[in-house]
Amino acid sequence: MEKKTYQGLVVRETEEKKYARAIEELSIEALPAGDVLVRVLYSSLNYKDMLSATGNKGVTKKYPHTPGIDAAGIVETSSSTEFKPGDEVIVTSYDLGMNTSGGLGQYIRVPAAWVVRKPTGLTLRESMIFGTAGFTAALSVLRLTDYGIKAKDDVLVTGAAGGVGGVAVSMLSHAGFNVTALNSLLDERVYLTGIGAANVIEPADLIEESGRPLLKDRWTGCVDTLGGNVLTSAIRSIRANGAMTCCGNVVSHDIHLTVYPFILRGVSLFGIDSQNCPMPLRLRAWGMLAGAWKFPWLERLASEVRLSGVEGALDKIRSGNHQGRIIVNLWD
Ligand SMILES: NC(=O)c1ccc[n+]([C@@H]2O[C@H](COP(=O)([O-])OP(=O)(O)OC[C@H]3O[C@@H](n4cnc5c(N)ncnc54)[C@H](OP(=O)(O)O)[C@@H]3O)[C@@H](O)[C@H]2O)c1
Repeated sequence: MEKKTYQGLVVRETEEKKYARAIEELSIEALPAGDVLVRVLYSSLNYKDMLSATGNKGVTKKYPHTPGIDAAGIVETSSSTEFKPGDEVIVTSYDLGMNTSGGLGQYIRVPAAWVVRKPTGLTLRESMIFGTAGFTAALSVLRLTDYGIKAKDDVLVTGAAGGVGGVAVSMLSHAGFNVTALNSLLDERVYLTGIGAANVIEPADLIEESGRPLLKDRWTGCVDTLGGNVLTSAIRSIRANGAMTCCGNVVSHDIHLTVYPFILRGVSLFGIDSQNCPMPLRLRAWGMLAGAWKFPWLERLASEVRLSGVEGALDKIRSGNHQGRIIVNLWD
């Protein structure tokens, strides 16, 4: 390997306890120890990357730091027998981009146990259109379908215009579910129906704060990305023996619930943790994304930026003013 330096986005803490971002020339040698050095071709931007890039110490404890919880690229060197130079791989989750230098740099070095061989049904670019958000959507839909929610059932998706939500809407619609999308911020009806939502509702159509333990039963399943009063209103609207998943806290991490959806309707609530997902389930979810759940309008969800465009894209995520998935082309 001849290259000794690479370009990456570095977040630095300033004396005024602010966080400044700049593209810097970095040393490959200074990357953390690990089995596999990957030349990153694409990354993507997730809600957590915005938190890491803006100094959220719950995500990243020490700065300077290169964020990027997603990376797809080509193995450059490997001390593991599992991978060899030239292999196309996906690295997401674990500590990548949190306290380990992440995919917003042209190289990463990581343990072999974090690395997933790219499934044949996806290109590296497509794998990053999914990224952690799509992978989390797949874990959520797997939970619901393993539980017994099936095609033609009515399913609600919240935060629908976002990354996890947009992939969940698309995947569920492609698999034959009747999808209702909750759209909270900008009016994104045209986009949401274009990616498969049969109905689009707004917060006033869902949120109910009177404290009534059960609401009219409207959906068999729900993929929730928002938490707070969205989750608590949705779970009170799930039909008997239905189920919902919880993966995010965009609205709030607080939930105030009674036991009644669980004991009077037999509703189940599944937590989703993509970061520590065991490898067999991880491979199964990537297999579904590359196969049966790979919807034909994947590109409709994607916008692409270079490293120099990450700053503006993070602002859009911070304000909720973006649609779908933003991928980062590291070498363009
Ligand atoms: N547990 C896990 O493993 C895991 C993995 C990935 C992500 N997550 C979490 O899942 C959540 C969503 O992630 P993401 O990557 O999809 O984020 P995202 O792309 O930023 O999407 C969030 C969406 O939420 C809605 N929204 C934003 N601000 C809102 C507000 N103030 N009130 C109501 N709705 C608002 C918007 O969609 P609408 O306008 O359509 O409502 C927005 O597009 C985050 O909390 C993230 O941390 C968890």
